[in-house]
Amino acid sequence: MDKNTSNRGQWASNIGFILAAAGSAVGLGNIWKFPYLAGANGGGAFVVIYLVMIVIIGFVIMLGEMAIGRNTHLSSVGAYKKLSEKWAFVGFIGVVVGFCILAFYSVIGGWVLNYIGKYLIGGISGAEAGNYFSGFIASTTQPIVWHLVFMVLCCVIVLKGIAGGIEKASKFMMPALFILLVIIAIRSVTLDGAMEGIKFFLKPDFSKVTIGTVMAALGQAFFSLSLGMGAIITYGSYLGKTENLEKNAIIIPAIDTAVALLAGFAVLPAVFAFGFEPGAGPSLMFITLPSVFDSMPFGQFFGILFFILVLFAALTSAISLLEVVVAFVIDTFKIERKKTTIIISTILFFIGIPCSLANGPVMKDVLIFGYNFFDFMSFLAENLLMPLGGLLMCIFIGYVWGVDNISDEISCNGKYRFRSKPFFVIMIKYIAPVLIFIIWLNAIGVLPYIFKIFGITL
Ligand code: PFF
Repeated sequence: MDKNTSNRGQWASNIGFILAAAGSAVGLGNIWKFPYLAGANGGGAFVVIYLVMIVIIGFVIMLGEMAIGRNTHLSSVGAYKKLSEKWAFVGFIGVVVGFCILAFYSVIGGWVLNYIGKYLIGGISGAEAGNYFSGFIASTTQPIVWHLVFMVLCCVIVLKGIAGGIEKASKFMMPALFILLVIIAIRSVTLDGAMEGIKFFLKPDFSKVTIGTVMAALGQAFFSLSLGMGAIITYGSYLGKTENLEKNAIIIPAIDTAVALLAGFAVLPAVFAFGFEPGAGPSLMFITLPSVFDSMPFGQFFGILFFILVLFAALTSAISLLEVVVAFVIDTFKIERKKTTIIISTILFFIGIPCSLANGPVMKDVLIFGYNFFDFMSFLAENLLMPLGGLLMCIFIGYVWGVDNISDEISCNGKYRFRSKPFFVIMIKYIAPVLIFIIWLNAIGVLPYIFKIFGITL
């Protein structure tokens, strides 16, 4: 262990790092977004495009982030600053994103906890699922109390540090999540009428593929792999100097993608088998699926398993978001971890309150650029800042830090052969920045106008 890492903490094992980083990647995005996105955007055709995006962008940016973190042994702001003073602001974008995402992610984590409680005491009837959900999220205190519980769970894990907290928790939660997901997927695909759902999910329909599909696939790949906001830089900063980064950057996206595909098999066949319409986001998870469980034999049991699995997915992602902010404060102000984690979690709890209230009468009419507070946080982080962070990172690696320096880091100064180097260089310098710039223009709403000028329709 070198001097830098000794007092910051370090992963106890490479597999611990892989599970923690995969835990960051596997989250609500895999479970409530990917299956629907695939089904609605051309099924198998979307999945193929998504896989291409994971390989050409996901792998490259993940590898880049890991290398920046491991080289500097600092969290995102400190890492950029150490490599080039002027670029510290890119790391800072990550800290802001961490704050924004965690504020609303934790509110959703609270909803999941409430559903686990509800299922433990009997479940939710299909006829009431819609009203129950809209009533619950619109209420003032209950969701805030559950958000507090979720935030406390994150806080307790993160304050125990890297090996003793995040790694230990991920080593338990990730395998458990995987087993639960396999059980539910088997149940789902063996239901009568499951085939319709599998067809919706995977049957390729190239007529639905447009430039918009490519954009959706890239955006999803970015969010799903937790890229562009310093989470992987931060986790990478606790890696030992001898780990093989290239291998890790293949394994983590592979796990994330496997979970996304499994989630498709767990969710969609069941939804179709009982004659429901799939959708994306909260309604799929909190309204449609409870109705599905209600129609299913042993539905309460599967409901409990499902929401526990979602809780693990949300928690392992949320702790990585919290760690981004906590590590920044520890590295910058040299405050002790315990104190820092408690202070940051408390601040995040308070920022989460307006996110929760935005779903109810108290704040639903308070709009920022037309979005309520909850949606604004999500738009700001996911659509604006994450792609921007990714874009600037590509430019930083390709043209500022330089491909030779990063190659030395990735190969551990020649210990490993950096097999994908030619591919990595072309991607990080030319292809990734252009593609990310395009999704960013799309996210901020400028792209359709540019396309119009050239007569292209989205
Ligand atoms: N990857 C998570 C998901 O798919 O839900 C979201 C996320 C977690 C984004 C952590 C960014 C991050 F740092």
